[in-house]
Amino acid sequence: MRYSTQTEHGKPIRLHDADDFIAMRIAGKIAAETLDFITPYVKAGVSTAELDRLCEEFMRAAGSIPATIDYHGYRHASCISVNHVVTHGIPSASKILKTGDILNIDVTPKINGWHGDTSRTYKVGAVSILANRLVDTTYAAMMAGIKEVRPGATLGDVGAAIEAVARAERFSSVRDFCGHGVGQVFHDTPLVLHYGKRGTGTVLEPGMFFTIEPMLNAGSFEVKVLGDGWTTVTKDHSLSAQFEHTLAVTETGFEIFTLSALGE
Ligand code: MF3
Ligand code: CO
Ligand code: CO
Repeated sequence: MRYSTQTEHGKPIRLHDADDFIAMRIAGKIAAETLDFITPYVKAGVSTAELDRLCEEFMRAAGSIPATIDYHGYRHASCISVNHVVTHGIPSASKILKTGDILNIDVTPKINGWHGDTSRTYKVGAVSILANRLVDTTYAAMMAGIKEVRPGATLGDVGAAIEAVARAERFSSVRDFCGHGVGQVFHDTPLVLHYGKRGTGTVLEPGMFFTIEPMLNAGSFEVKVLGDGWTTVTKDHSLSAQFEHTLAVTETGFEIFTLSALGE
């Protein structure tokens, strides 16, 4: 590992080497497999606490530790954010899924000191046309951001691509939470905004590791954090969706560490 000559608000940005890529492939694979594993359990009638318990069991059986446990006082193996919950939803035995819900499950297994951070938004049975469009657009927005990633591109290019996909469907991209550098540190530099202006911001260099994790709202981008200090909801109560991958900048483009063998 070495450092970029670029800094962000005075903080260094790490550039990782071949061994670091190998370590991240292992962490990313467990993260993707956790989301694959949980998929058949996401059904009407199940509680979000039960989904969290299953995710924790899977991550530990794979030899990893859920990095969210005891992270700034958070106590769970996953964040599960249902409908108008934007992010950091706390798993609960009293939150029972019902047909038509959409929910994001976000997991970060840590193995050999390296973090794989990924999330998907799941649909419970048949969902509304709006919910369907929101979820599919959010996935497309994440992928549009990822496809900008190559040496010499900027984080502004990534943000602008995400925002353009959101706007084309008249959805908004949340501004109060962003993607982040990731590796041996869970939340590191750089800050990856899901909006922005082309040609601005940090210039991407091979060996940078970060997440892209857009949250799109059906209404306004404004959010508020509830009294528990975690649960973040849309201010206007509109639906929200999110997807997240952990990736690297390579010599020629990008490598997604959290890509599922099933293709998601
Ligand atoms: N996994 C989340 C992210 O994408 C962070 C969750 S931190 C927690 O960055 F403490 F809320 F779990
Ligand atoms: Co993240
Ligand atoms: Co995450």
